[in-house]
Amino acid sequence: MTKHPYPPEPFRIKVVEPIRLIPREAREAALKEAGYNLFLMKAEDMFIDLLTDSGTGAMSQEQWAAIMRGDESYAGARSYHRLKAAVEDVFGFKHFMPTHQGRAAENILAAVLVKPGQWVPSNMHFDTTDANIRARHGRPANLVIDEASDPENRHPFKGNMDINKLKAFIAKYGREQIPMGMITVTNNAGGGQPVSMENLKAVSQVYHENDIPFFIDAARYAENCFFIKQREPGYENKSVKEIAREMFSLADGMTMSAKKDAIVNIGGLLCLNDDTLFQNLKNELILREGFPTYGGLAGRDLDAMAVGLYEGLDEDYLSYRLGQTAYLASRLNDNGIPTIQPTGGHGVYVNAGAIFPHIPNYEFPAQALAVELYREGGIRGVEIGSVMFACLDPEDNTWHYPALELLRLAIPRRTYTQSHLDYVADCLAAIKSRANKVKGYKFTYAPELLRHFTARFEPL
Ligand code: F0G
Repeated sequence: MTKHPYPPEPFRIKVVEPIRLIPREAREAALKEAGYNLFLMKAEDMFIDLLTDSGTGAMSQEQWAAIMRGDESYAGARSYHRLKAAVEDVFGFKHFMPTHQGRAAENILAAVLVKPGQWVPSNMHFDTTDANIRARHGRPANLVIDEASDPENRHPFKGNMDINKLKAFIAKYGREQIPMGMITVTNNAGGGQPVSMENLKAVSQVYHENDIPFFIDAARYAENCFFIKQREPGYENKSVKEIAREMFSLADGMTMSAKKDAIVNIGGLLCLNDDTLFQNLKNELILREGFPTYGGLAGRDLDAMAVGLYEGLDEDYLSYRLGQTAYLASRLNDNGIPTIQPTGGHGVYVNAGAIFPHIPNYEFPAQALAVELYREGGIRGVEIGSVMFACLDPEDNTWHYPALELLRLAIPRRTYTQSHLDYVADCLAAIKSRANKVKGYKFTYAPELLRHFTARFEPL
């Protein structure tokens, strides 16, 4: 193929959803009305919405066709059996159940396995996993390698778990206090960074030597497997599907938000091998989600997922997808806008602290960048900095701030084109050129927990 900044979209567009950039004064009024919190704004006022890549992708003609074949029978629907065949083929676990989304699978697993005071280690838990463990009075622990916290470090597998930290952790707390061990592929909380197969093998070995069941958070497993194919010696000639089968053969089970790599608008999966645990999880599923052959979803959702699982593994698609993310990051970097290196799978994490060195963390530089990006171009990203993570330590009554102030630009699957990304890059470059004039924000309202969702702000 002719050299091009990234692979051209391997699809053409059959259905369109209009988007429009509302005038600058209207954007300013909308910001004010929402208390400068982009979560509180209307989607119709967004030109390009990069809040999340979760459930926001475009389904294919085959998925929409499958939706028409959805079997809405309460028990034993054809849709369930079609999904079961796909799940067994792709992941290879003995048992599975559908759930309405990823956090539902996490809730059921934590409800059955985690007892008060017990620990669940991972590279980094996503916030819903962290919260579901805490909701059972368990304690999540993040044991990612140190390189993950350096935004400039170009380690090819920055999602890796630190094996020495894991061994020391198990030695310290004891196997009895660790009902399961996890790992997130790719590591969303750390910038969408992949985990290597070598590391997965080592993690699996440590968990299994200690008799600890090993669960993978598989939300973005296909992107992770494609990174393995691109970066890990020995995998260049394996198919992504073969790599996935090898990955899951190392684990005892998995949770998955199908809203990511299964390219559906809603859905999740819980898979495992153990018969007794499956029985217990099924009872919890019936209580919380629904009968085990639909798990809180409509039959049509199961069919869309069965098709989407294969489309998410397509290597032309993955090459375009990861190429698109890398392209946006390189456009930003060329304009002197720093992003977490190397670029992850599903989004670009802009280092807002480095763009606004004059805004201290308690005046929320990444929030300022989020607001500025909407003001400039009607674009919505998500703050991953002090609004989301700063917390008051109850012991010494001081504020603890996260190491980085980031703005995540998550890229929905198959939704925006290269010209949309060029536009995003141009808007950020415009902000960079007037960065020293941008000011911080202060709260006018902030709840105690998960404050980024409902907080309100005022410009300083
Ligand atoms: N695990 C990971 C790694 C995730 O990124 C998410 C969701 C979940 C679990 C929970 O899945 O939303 O289907 O319940 N991440 C979204 C995001 C919300 O924007 O990164 P869910």
